[in-house]
Amino acid sequence: MSEVLRISFPEPPVREPEPIVRLNGFSRHFGETRVLDDLDLSIAPGEFVALLGRSGSGKTTLLRTLAGLDEANGASAVIPASRATVFQDARLLPWKRVWQNVVLGVTGEDRRQRAEEALREVGLEHRPDAWPLTLSGGEAQRASLARALIRKPELLLLDEPFAALDALTRIRMHALVLSLWRRHKPAVLLVTHDVEEAMALADRILVLDAGRIAAEERIAAPRGQRASVVRPLRGRLLGHLGLQTDGGVYADLIGRDH
Ligand SMILES: Nc1ncnc2c1ncn2[C@@H]1O[C@H](COP(=O)(O)OP(=O)(O)O)[C@@H](O)[C@H]1O
Ligand SMILES: [Mg+2]
Repeated sequence: MSEVLRISFPEPPVREPEPIVRLNGFSRHFGETRVLDDLDLSIAPGEFVALLGRSGSGKTTLLRTLAGLDEANGASAVIPASRATVFQDARLLPWKRVWQNVVLGVTGEDRRQRAEEALREVGLEHRPDAWPLTLSGGEAQRASLARALIRKPELLLLDEPFAALDALTRIRMHALVLSLWRRHKPAVLLVTHDVEEAMALADRILVLDAGRIAAEERIAAPRGQRASVVRPLRGRLLGHLGLQTDGGVYADLIGRDH
């Protein structure tokens, strides 16, 4: 009888990718006010994370640190050099044409061509020579996204970029951000106070409260097939934000019809 030599190899461990962003024990004070307090955060490459929090909870403060606009004092921090930020207001220079805003700080003979390519990606190819003040709010945010994209960021930071837009424009912008994210695969940190926006766009939702990440929700369901998870998730997220629907605090606030 022939002996069969069996060699078994251990299963290779499933390795989580190294996070592209890592903050450990990050605190930020303004005078006596502790805005962020011993906060930990990590984001994987290509991950789409939404950061929810009440107004004044420190979302922008955290984002400014990740954007390199504020020092990460005292924290152990890993932040990629390749990053770009889109703010709530588009922050276009009014004395430069749209295409020039898009390639601000970019050098090279092909600047105009690169600007046009980026504008095509955001659906603004027909306005390269427009002045920023002639753009609608949605168009200005498209230009601002093009300016971020052209830097091919590994980390895209979005600070309530759709908050000032009307509801229909906001939905179009959601679709645009998702298509850009699918194509370029940056890690995204979307700061928002909009629970619906977070649930529609993110892989993972963090709730910032009292200076820390107070709650975390991972959404396994693919985008577009989230109807069944949205209702309970909305309830939990509103709970973390201090509001409860259906007979809770929110119902007390708005009162009942008789
Ligand atoms: N430069 C600053 N100086 C003093 N206080 C600040 C400064 N920036 C932010 N704050 C305070 O920090 C808190 C968090 O602000 P912010 O990060 O803008 O909140 P959010 O973006 O969640 O609304 C607020 O109370 C705000 O007043
Ligand atoms: Mg803010």
